[in-house]
Amino acid sequence: MPKFVIQGGKTLKGRVAVGGAKNHALKLLAASILFDSPVELTNVPQIEDVFRMSELLEKLGAKVKKASNHTLTVDPRGIKKSELDREITKRFRASVVAIGPLLGRFGKAALAHPGGCVIGERPIDIFIEGLTALGATFKEKDETYFFEAKKLTGADFTFRVPSVTATETLMLAAVAADGKTVLRNAASEPEIPALAEFLNNAGAKIAGAGTATIEITGLGRDAKLMASAPFEVIPDRIEAGSLAILGALMASELTIEKCNPEHLGSLLEHLKTAGASVKTGPDWLRVKRTKKINPVNIKTREYPGFPTDLQAPFCILLTQANGRSEIFETIFDNRLEYLKDIERMGADITFCDPHRAIIAGPAALRGRVMESPDLRAGLAFIIAALVAEGESEIHNVYQIDRGYETIEDKLARLGAKIKRIRE
Ligand code: EPU
Repeated sequence: MPKFVIQGGKTLKGRVAVGGAKNHALKLLAASILFDSPVELTNVPQIEDVFRMSELLEKLGAKVKKASNHTLTVDPRGIKKSELDREITKRFRASVVAIGPLLGRFGKAALAHPGGCVIGERPIDIFIEGLTALGATFKEKDETYFFEAKKLTGADFTFRVPSVTATETLMLAAVAADGKTVLRNAASEPEIPALAEFLNNAGAKIAGAGTATIEITGLGRDAKLMASAPFEVIPDRIEAGSLAILGALMASELTIEKCNPEHLGSLLEHLKTAGASVKTGPDWLRVKRTKKINPVNIKTREYPGFPTDLQAPFCILLTQANGRSEIFETIFDNRLEYLKDIERMGADITFCDPHRAIIAGPAALRGRVMESPDLRAGLAFIIAALVAEGESEIHNVYQIDRGYETIEDKLARLGAKIKRIRE
Protein backbone atom coordinates (compact mmCIF):
# COMPACT_ATOMS: atom_id res chain seq x y z
CA MET A 1 0.00 0.00 0.00
CA PRO A 2 1.43 3.41 -0.89
CA LYS A 3 1.95 6.13 1.70
CA PHE A 4 2.98 9.76 1.66
CA VAL A 5 6.14 10.78 3.50
CA ILE A 6 6.25 14.50 4.20
CA GLN A 7 8.87 16.79 5.74
CA GLY A 8 7.24 19.89 7.18
CA GLY A 9 8.24 23.49 7.49
CA LYS A 10 9.12 24.44 3.91
CA THR A 11 7.91 27.73 2.50
CA LEU A 12 5.91 27.22 -0.70
CA LYS A 13 5.82 29.39 -3.80
CA GLY A 14 4.64 29.16 -7.38
CA ARG A 15 1.68 28.38 -9.60
CA VAL A 16 -0.60 25.40 -9.55
CA ALA A 17 -3.53 24.47 -11.81
CA VAL A 18 -6.68 22.96 -10.39
CA GLY A 19 -8.23 19.85 -11.96
CA GLY A 20 -11.83 19.20 -12.95
CA ALA A 21 -14.36 18.88 -10.14
CA LYS A 22 -14.84 15.34 -8.82
CA ASN A 23 -18.42 16.08 -7.81
CA HIS A 24 -19.28 17.40 -11.27
CA ALA A 25 -17.47 14.72 -13.32
CA LEU A 26 -19.14 11.89 -11.38
CA LYS A 27 -22.63 13.31 -12.01
CA LEU A 28 -21.96 13.87 -15.72
CA LEU A 29 -20.90 10.25 -15.99
CA ALA A 30 -24.08 9.10 -14.23
CA ALA A 31 -26.16 11.41 -16.45
CA SER A 32 -24.75 9.75 -19.57
CA ILE A 33 -27.24 6.91 -18.90
CA LEU A 34 -29.96 9.24 -20.24
CA PHE A 35 -28.18 9.70 -23.58
CA ASP A 36 -28.74 8.06 -26.91
CA SER A 37 -25.36 9.04 -28.29
CA PRO A 38 -21.75 8.83 -27.11
CA VAL A 39 -20.84 11.59 -24.68
CA GLU A 40 -17.43 13.24 -24.64
CA LEU A 41 -16.28 14.84 -21.40
CA THR A 42 -13.18 17.00 -21.07
CA ASN A 43 -11.22 18.18 -18.01
CA VAL A 44 -12.12 14.91 -16.28
CA PRO A 45 -9.87 14.37 -13.25
CA GLN A 46 -7.98 11.08 -13.23
CA ILE A 47 -9.01 10.07 -9.72
CA GLU A 48 -10.15 6.84 -8.12
CA ASP A 49 -13.83 7.85 -7.79
CA VAL A 50 -13.97 8.60 -11.53
CA PHE A 51 -12.41 5.18 -12.21
CA ARG A 52 -15.04 3.58 -9.97
CA MET A 53 -17.92 5.42 -11.70
CA SER A 54 -16.54 4.37 -15.09
CA GLU A 55 -16.42 0.75 -13.92
CA LEU A 56 -19.96 1.04 -12.59
CA LEU A 57 -21.19 2.21 -16.01
CA GLU A 58 -19.23 -0.53 -17.77
CA LYS A 59 -20.84 -3.15 -15.56
CA LEU A 60 -24.23 -1.80 -16.67
CA GLY A 61 -23.19 -2.26 -20.30
CA ALA A 62 -21.78 1.16 -21.28
CA LYS A 63 -18.44 1.59 -23.03
CA VAL A 64 -16.08 4.07 -21.38
CA LYS A 65 -12.93 5.08 -23.19
CA LYS A 66 -10.12 7.39 -22.19
CA ALA A 67 -9.58 9.46 -25.32
CA SER A 68 -6.65 11.44 -23.91
CA ASN A 69 -5.33 12.33 -20.49
CA HIS A 70 -8.40 14.20 -19.26
CA THR A 71 -10.97 13.30 -21.91
CA LEU A 72 -13.40 10.42 -21.51
CA THR A 73 -16.02 9.18 -23.92
CA VAL A 74 -18.98 7.21 -22.69
CA ASP A 75 -21.19 5.28 -25.04
CA PRO A 76 -24.27 4.41 -22.98
CA ARG A 77 -26.16 2.69 -25.81
CA GLY A 78 -25.26 -0.81 -24.63
CA ILE A 79 -26.74 -0.33 -21.16
CA LYS A 80 -29.12 -3.19 -20.45
CA LYS A 81 -28.82 -3.75 -16.72
CA SER A 82 -30.43 -1.63 -14.04
CA GLU A 83 -28.79 -3.03 -10.90
CA LEU A 84 -25.62 -1.30 -9.77
CA ASP A 85 -22.62 -3.48 -9.00
CA ARG A 86 -22.67 -4.08 -5.27
CA GLU A 87 -18.98 -3.88 -4.46
CA ILE A 88 -18.37 -0.74 -6.52
CA THR A 89 -21.46 1.00 -5.12
CA LYS A 90 -20.15 0.48 -1.62
CA ARG A 91 -16.95 2.34 -2.44
CA PHE A 92 -18.32 5.82 -3.16
CA ARG A 93 -21.43 7.82 -2.42
CA ALA A 94 -21.97 9.32 -5.88
CA SER A 95 -22.87 5.86 -7.21
CA VAL A 96 -26.39 6.51 -5.89
CA VAL A 97 -26.95 9.27 -8.49
CA ALA A 98 -27.11 6.62 -11.24
CA ILE A 99 -30.47 5.37 -9.93
CA GLY A 100 -32.24 8.55 -11.15
CA PRO A 101 -31.49 8.05 -14.85
CA LEU A 102 -31.77 4.23 -14.61
CA LEU A 103 -35.23 4.45 -13.12
CA GLY A 104 -36.25 7.12 -15.61
CA ARG A 105 -35.12 5.23 -18.69
CA PHE A 106 -35.51 1.58 -17.77
CA GLY A 107 -38.31 1.70 -15.21
CA LYS A 108 -36.20 0.10 -12.49
CA ALA A 109 -33.03 0.54 -10.50
CA ALA A 110 -31.43 -1.43 -7.69
CA LEU A 111 -28.44 -0.79 -5.47
CA ALA A 112 -26.71 -1.68 -2.23
CA HIS A 113 -26.29 1.08 0.35
CA PRO A 114 -23.83 3.53 -1.23
CA GLY A 115 -20.48 3.94 0.53
CA GLY A 116 -18.06 6.84 0.52
CA CYS A 117 -16.47 8.93 3.22
CA VAL A 118 -17.21 7.90 6.78
CA ILE A 119 -18.40 11.28 8.00
CA GLY A 120 -21.57 10.33 9.84
CA GLU A 121 -24.92 8.81 8.95
CA ARG A 122 -25.54 9.04 5.23
CA PRO A 123 -29.05 7.70 4.73
CA ILE A 124 -30.93 7.66 1.41
CA ASP A 125 -34.38 8.43 2.87
CA ILE A 126 -34.70 11.69 0.94
CA PHE A 127 -33.96 9.89 -2.34
CA ILE A 128 -36.73 7.42 -1.50
CA GLU A 129 -39.18 10.22 -0.66
CA GLY A 130 -38.38 12.07 -3.88
CA LEU A 131 -38.46 9.11 -6.23
CA THR A 132 -41.72 7.81 -4.74
CA ALA A 133 -43.18 11.31 -5.19
CA LEU A 134 -42.40 10.84 -8.91
CA GLY A 135 -44.36 7.58 -8.86
CA ALA A 136 -41.71 4.94 -8.08
CA THR A 137 -42.27 2.05 -5.69
CA PHE A 138 -39.57 1.14 -3.22
CA LYS A 139 -38.67 -2.02 -1.35
CA GLU A 140 -35.65 -3.30 0.51
CA LYS A 141 -34.63 -6.96 0.41
CA ASP A 142 -31.36 -8.78 1.16
CA GLU A 143 -29.59 -5.47 1.81
CA THR A 144 -30.56 -4.21 -1.63
CA TYR A 145 -32.83 -1.27 -2.43
CA PHE A 146 -35.22 -1.78 -5.36
CA PHE A 147 -37.02 1.06 -7.14
CA GLU A 148 -39.58 0.48 -9.87
CA ALA A 149 -41.87 2.66 -11.95
CA LYS A 150 -43.66 1.80 -15.20
CA LYS A 151 -43.40 5.49 -15.82
CA LEU A 152 -42.37 8.47 -13.72
CA THR A 153 -44.76 11.39 -13.47
CA GLY A 154 -43.72 14.96 -12.72
CA ALA A 155 -44.45 16.14 -9.17
CA ASP A 156 -44.03 19.08 -6.83
CA PHE A 157 -41.46 17.94 -4.26
CA THR A 158 -39.89 19.79 -1.34
CA PHE A 159 -36.59 18.54 0.12
CA ARG A 160 -36.71 18.37 3.92
CA VAL A 161 -32.96 18.96 3.77
CA PRO A 162 -31.31 20.36 0.63
CA SER A 163 -29.26 17.26 -0.27
CA VAL A 164 -26.78 17.67 -3.12
CA THR A 165 -26.83 14.14 -4.55
CA ALA A 166 -30.59 13.75 -3.98
CA THR A 167 -31.19 17.00 -5.92
CA GLU A 168 -29.06 15.68 -8.78
CA THR A 169 -30.71 12.25 -8.73
CA LEU A 170 -34.23 13.70 -8.83
CA MET A 171 -33.29 16.18 -11.53
CA LEU A 172 -32.03 13.30 -13.69
CA ALA A 173 -35.08 11.15 -12.99
CA ALA A 174 -37.41 14.08 -13.74
CA VAL A 175 -35.87 14.57 -17.20
CA ALA A 176 -37.28 11.15 -18.09
CA ALA A 177 -40.64 11.70 -16.34
CA ASP A 178 -43.92 12.71 -17.98
CA GLY A 179 -44.90 16.30 -17.21
CA LYS A 180 -43.43 18.99 -15.04
CA THR A 181 -41.45 18.49 -11.84
CA VAL A 182 -40.78 21.28 -9.37
CA LEU A 183 -38.01 20.64 -6.83
CA ARG A 184 -38.15 23.04 -3.88
CA ASN A 185 -35.53 23.67 -1.19
CA ALA A 186 -33.13 22.08 -3.66
CA ALA A 187 -29.37 22.22 -3.17
CA SER A 188 -27.63 24.92 -5.22
CA GLU A 189 -23.95 23.85 -5.23
CA PRO A 190 -22.25 25.00 -8.49
CA GLU A 191 -22.01 21.41 -9.75
CA ILE A 192 -25.84 21.35 -10.00
CA PRO A 193 -26.35 24.15 -12.57
CA ALA A 194 -23.30 22.75 -14.37
CA LEU A 195 -25.05 19.37 -14.58
CA ALA A 196 -28.25 21.06 -15.78
CA GLU A 197 -26.30 22.89 -18.50
CA PHE A 198 -24.92 19.57 -19.75
CA LEU A 199 -28.44 18.10 -19.91
CA ASN A 200 -30.01 21.20 -21.46
CA ASN A 201 -27.33 21.26 -24.19
CA ALA A 202 -28.52 17.78 -25.11
CA GLY A 203 -32.26 18.60 -25.19
CA ALA A 204 -33.43 18.55 -21.55
CA LYS A 205 -35.59 21.36 -20.21
CA ILE A 206 -34.36 22.40 -16.78
CA ALA A 207 -34.78 25.89 -15.36
CA GLY A 208 -33.65 27.34 -12.05
CA ALA A 209 -30.76 24.95 -11.28
CA GLY A 210 -28.40 26.80 -8.95
CA THR A 211 -31.36 28.25 -7.04
CA ALA A 212 -33.59 26.63 -4.43
CA THR A 213 -36.39 25.95 -6.96
CA ILE A 214 -35.68 23.82 -10.02
CA GLU A 215 -38.31 23.21 -12.70
CA ILE A 216 -37.92 20.31 -15.06
CA THR A 217 -40.19 19.72 -18.03
CA GLY A 218 -39.96 15.98 -18.46
CA LEU A 219 -39.31 14.40 -21.83
CA GLY A 220 -40.86 11.07 -20.87
CA ARG A 221 -39.37 7.61 -20.61
CA ASP A 222 -38.20 7.67 -24.21
CA ALA A 223 -36.21 10.82 -23.53
CA LYS A 224 -33.29 10.55 -25.86
CA LEU A 225 -30.63 13.09 -25.06
CA MET A 226 -28.10 13.69 -27.81
CA ALA A 227 -24.69 15.21 -27.10
CA SER A 228 -23.79 17.77 -29.73
CA ALA A 229 -20.32 18.75 -28.50
CA PRO A 230 -17.75 17.78 -25.87
CA PHE A 231 -18.63 19.09 -22.43
CA GLU A 232 -16.07 20.45 -19.96
CA VAL A 233 -16.06 19.56 -16.28
CA ILE A 234 -15.98 22.71 -14.11
CA PRO A 235 -12.92 23.41 -11.91
CA ASP A 236 -12.79 21.67 -8.56
CA ARG A 237 -13.65 24.35 -6.00
CA ILE A 238 -12.64 22.12 -3.08
CA GLU A 239 -9.17 21.47 -4.51
CA ALA A 240 -8.80 25.20 -5.25
CA GLY A 241 -10.03 26.14 -1.77
CA SER A 242 -7.71 23.65 -0.05
CA LEU A 243 -4.73 25.01 -1.99
CA ALA A 244 -5.75 28.57 -1.05
CA ILE A 245 -5.79 27.57 2.63
CA LEU A 246 -2.37 25.98 2.20
CA GLY A 247 -1.17 29.22 0.58
CA ALA A 248 -2.44 31.27 3.51
CA LEU A 249 -0.43 29.04 5.85
CA MET A 250 2.78 28.35 4.01
CA ALA A 251 3.25 30.35 0.81
CA SER A 252 5.28 33.47 0.18
CA GLU A 253 3.02 33.62 -2.89
CA LEU A 254 0.77 30.97 -4.41
CA THR A 255 -1.18 31.44 -7.64
CA ILE A 256 -3.99 28.98 -8.18
CA GLU A 257 -4.92 28.74 -11.84
CA LYS A 258 -7.81 27.25 -13.82
CA CYS A 259 -10.21 27.79 -10.93
CA ASN A 260 -13.41 29.79 -10.47
CA PRO A 261 -13.04 32.18 -7.48
CA GLU A 262 -16.78 32.98 -7.71
CA HIS A 263 -17.43 29.49 -6.32
CA LEU A 264 -15.28 30.22 -3.27
CA GLY A 265 -16.78 33.45 -1.93
CA SER A 266 -17.35 32.32 1.64
CA LEU A 267 -13.92 30.68 1.99
CA LEU A 268 -12.10 33.71 0.57
CA GLU A 269 -13.90 36.04 3.02
CA HIS A 270 -12.88 33.75 5.88
CA LEU A 271 -9.27 33.74 4.63
CA LYS A 272 -9.25 37.56 4.51
CA THR A 273 -10.65 37.71 8.03
CA ALA A 274 -7.83 35.38 9.08
CA GLY A 275 -5.44 38.00 7.68
CA ALA A 276 -4.28 36.34 4.45
CA SER A 277 -3.72 38.43 1.36
CA VAL A 278 -6.13 37.22 -1.34
CA LYS A 279 -6.37 38.53 -4.91
CA THR A 280 -8.66 37.11 -7.56
CA GLY A 281 -9.02 37.22 -11.34
CA PRO A 282 -11.61 35.58 -13.58
CA ASP A 283 -9.99 32.13 -13.39
CA TRP A 284 -7.20 32.47 -10.86
CA LEU A 285 -6.55 33.46 -7.30
CA ARG A 286 -3.40 34.45 -5.49
CA VAL A 287 -2.81 33.95 -1.79
CA LYS A 288 0.04 35.02 0.47
CA ARG A 289 0.51 34.00 4.05
CA THR A 290 0.38 36.51 6.84
CA LYS A 291 2.81 36.66 9.79
CA LYS A 292 -0.03 36.68 12.27
CA ILE A 293 -3.15 34.61 11.56
CA ASN A 294 -6.35 35.83 13.23
CA PRO A 295 -8.77 33.36 14.81
CA VAL A 296 -12.06 32.95 12.87
CA ASN A 297 -15.21 31.07 13.78
CA ILE A 298 -16.59 28.81 11.08
CA LYS A 299 -20.01 27.32 10.61
CA THR A 300 -20.43 24.98 7.66
CA ARG A 301 -23.44 25.60 5.44
CA GLU A 302 -24.98 24.62 2.16
CA TYR A 303 -23.67 26.60 -0.81
CA PRO A 304 -23.01 29.54 -0.92
CA GLY A 305 -22.09 29.15 2.75
CA PHE A 306 -18.83 27.78 4.09
CA PRO A 307 -18.40 24.30 2.52
CA THR A 308 -18.23 21.30 4.82
CA ASP A 309 -15.60 19.87 2.46
CA LEU A 310 -13.24 22.74 3.41
CA GLN A 311 -13.84 22.51 7.14
CA ALA A 312 -10.92 20.11 7.76
CA PRO A 313 -8.26 22.04 5.80
CA PHE A 314 -9.45 25.33 7.36
CA CYS A 315 -9.12 23.87 10.87
CA ILE A 316 -5.42 23.26 10.17
CA LEU A 317 -5.08 26.99 9.44
CA LEU A 318 -6.86 27.73 12.72
CA THR A 319 -4.32 25.67 14.70
CA GLN A 320 -1.85 28.41 13.71
CA ALA A 321 -4.15 31.38 14.50
CA ASN A 322 -3.46 33.66 17.44
CA GLY A 323 -6.42 32.88 19.67
CA ARG A 324 -9.54 30.81 19.94
CA SER A 325 -11.70 29.74 16.98
CA GLU A 326 -15.03 27.94 17.17
CA ILE A 327 -15.87 25.26 14.63
CA PHE A 328 -19.49 24.32 14.02
CA GLU A 329 -19.99 21.48 11.52
CA THR A 330 -23.69 21.59 10.70
CA ILE A 331 -23.92 19.31 7.64
CA PHE A 332 -22.52 15.96 8.79
CA ASP A 333 -22.69 14.22 12.18
CA ASN A 334 -19.20 12.83 12.39
CA ARG A 335 -16.93 15.20 10.57
CA LEU A 336 -14.69 16.34 13.43
CA GLU A 337 -13.20 12.92 14.29
CA TYR A 338 -10.01 13.63 12.32
CA LEU A 339 -9.24 16.48 14.78
CA LYS A 340 -8.17 13.83 17.31
CA ASP A 341 -5.15 13.14 15.11
CA ILE A 342 -4.46 16.85 14.77
CA GLU A 343 -4.61 17.11 18.56
CA ARG A 344 -2.01 14.32 18.77
CA MET A 345 0.21 16.43 16.48
CA GLY A 346 0.18 19.10 19.20
CA ALA A 347 -2.90 21.23 18.45
CA ASP A 348 -4.94 22.57 21.38
CA ILE A 349 -8.48 21.35 20.70
CA THR A 350 -11.53 21.19 22.96
CA PHE A 351 -14.25 18.84 21.72
CA CYS A 352 -17.64 20.27 22.75
CA ASP A 353 -19.99 17.79 21.03
CA PRO A 354 -19.94 15.80 17.76
CA HIS A 355 -20.63 19.00 15.82
CA ARG A 356 -18.53 21.55 17.69
CA ALA A 357 -14.91 22.09 18.69
CA ILE A 358 -12.72 24.96 19.84
CA ILE A 359 -9.21 25.36 18.51
CA ALA A 360 -6.76 27.53 20.46
CA GLY A 361 -3.66 28.62 18.60
CA PRO A 362 -0.98 28.98 17.71
CA ALA A 363 0.33 25.50 18.46
CA ALA A 364 3.55 23.94 17.24
CA LEU A 365 2.58 20.80 15.30
CA ARG A 366 4.90 17.78 15.27
CA GLY A 367 5.11 15.22 12.46
CA ARG A 368 3.32 11.89 13.04
CA VAL A 369 2.26 8.67 11.39
CA MET A 370 -1.42 8.92 10.44
CA GLU A 371 -4.13 7.04 8.59
CA SER A 372 -6.23 9.07 6.17
CA PRO A 373 -9.83 8.64 7.42
CA ASP A 374 -11.55 10.16 4.39
CA LEU A 375 -10.84 12.23 1.34
CA ARG A 376 -11.06 15.77 2.70
CA ALA A 377 -9.55 15.02 6.11
CA GLY A 378 -6.78 13.17 4.24
CA LEU A 379 -5.82 16.37 2.44
CA ALA A 380 -6.03 18.24 5.75
CA PHE A 381 -3.50 15.74 7.15
CA ILE A 382 -1.17 16.54 4.26
CA ILE A 383 -1.53 20.27 5.02
CA ALA A 384 -0.92 19.64 8.74
CA ALA A 385 2.16 17.57 7.88
CA LEU A 386 3.49 20.40 5.69
CA VAL A 387 3.06 22.83 8.60
CA ALA A 388 4.50 20.47 11.24
CA GLU A 389 8.07 20.19 12.35
CA GLY A 390 9.71 16.92 11.34
CA GLU A 391 8.49 13.99 9.28
CA SER A 392 4.97 12.64 8.89
CA GLU A 393 3.67 9.54 7.18
CA ILE A 394 0.15 9.38 5.81
CA HIS A 395 -1.29 5.96 5.10
CA ASN A 396 -4.52 4.91 3.40
CA VAL A 397 -3.63 7.12 0.45
CA TYR A 398 -6.48 5.55 -1.58
CA GLN A 399 -8.84 7.89 0.28
CA ILE A 400 -6.88 10.92 -0.97
CA ASP A 401 -6.51 9.50 -4.49
CA ARG A 402 -10.31 9.19 -4.61
CA GLY A 403 -10.52 12.93 -5.14
CA TYR A 404 -7.13 14.48 -5.89
CA GLU A 405 -5.04 13.67 -8.95
CA THR A 406 -1.35 13.18 -8.12
CA ILE A 407 -1.54 15.81 -5.41
CA GLU A 408 2.05 15.04 -4.38
CA ASP A 409 3.40 16.23 -7.76
CA LYS A 410 1.45 19.49 -7.56
CA LEU A 411 2.71 20.17 -4.04
CA ALA A 412 6.30 19.13 -4.80
CA ARG A 413 6.40 21.63 -7.67
CA LEU A 414 5.55 24.36 -5.13
CA GLY A 415 8.52 23.37 -2.97
CA ALA A 416 6.86 20.89 -0.60
CA LYS A 417 8.86 17.88 0.52
CA ILE A 418 6.37 15.12 -0.18
CA LYS A 419 6.94 11.69 -1.67
CA ARG A 420 4.69 8.77 -2.50
CA ILE A 421 6.38 5.62 -1.30
CA ARG A 422 5.11 2.33 -2.70
CA GLU A 423 5.67 -0.41 -0.14
N1 EPU B 1 -29.23 13.46 4.12
C1 EPU B 1 -30.24 12.72 4.67
N2 EPU B 1 -30.93 11.85 3.87
C2 EPU B 1 -30.64 11.68 2.57
C3 EPU B 1 -29.61 12.45 2.00
C4 EPU B 1 -28.92 13.33 2.81
O1 EPU B 1 -30.52 12.84 5.86
O2 EPU B 1 -31.32 10.88 1.91
C5 EPU B 1 -28.48 14.40 4.95
C6 EPU B 1 -27.03 14.01 5.13
O3 EPU B 1 -26.85 13.01 6.11
C7 EPU B 1 -26.39 15.33 5.50
C8 EPU B 1 -27.23 16.33 4.69
O4 EPU B 1 -28.41 15.64 4.31
O5 EPU B 1 -26.57 15.57 6.85
C9 EPU B 1 -26.59 16.89 3.47
O6 EPU B 1 -25.94 15.87 2.76
P1 EPU B 1 -25.97 15.79 1.17
O7 EPU B 1 -26.95 14.74 0.78
O8 EPU B 1 -26.08 17.14 0.59
O9 EPU B 1 -24.52 15.21 0.88
P2 EPU B 1 -24.18 14.28 -0.31
O10 EPU B 1 -25.03 14.60 -1.46
O11 EPU B 1 -24.12 12.86 0.17
C10 EPU B 1 -22.39 15.81 -1.45
C11 EPU B 1 -20.93 15.68 -1.78
C12 EPU B 1 -20.12 15.71 -0.50
C13 EPU B 1 -20.38 17.04 0.20
C14 EPU B 1 -21.88 17.20 0.45
C15 EPU B 1 -22.24 18.55 1.05
C16 EPU B 1 -21.00 14.25 -3.72
C17 EPU B 1 -20.71 12.93 -4.30
N3 EPU B 1 -20.72 14.39 -2.44
O12 EPU B 1 -22.68 14.71 -0.59
O13 EPU B 1 -18.77 15.65 -0.88
O14 EPU B 1 -19.70 17.05 1.43
O15 EPU B 1 -22.60 17.06 -0.78
O16 EPU B 1 -21.81 19.56 0.23
O17 EPU B 1 -21.42 15.17 -4.41
C18 EPU B 1 -16.58 14.87 -0.83
O18 EPU B 1 -16.50 15.18 -2.01
O19 EPU B 1 -15.59 14.53 -0.15
C19 EPU B 1 -17.88 14.89 -0.18
C20 EPU B 1 -18.12 14.27 0.98
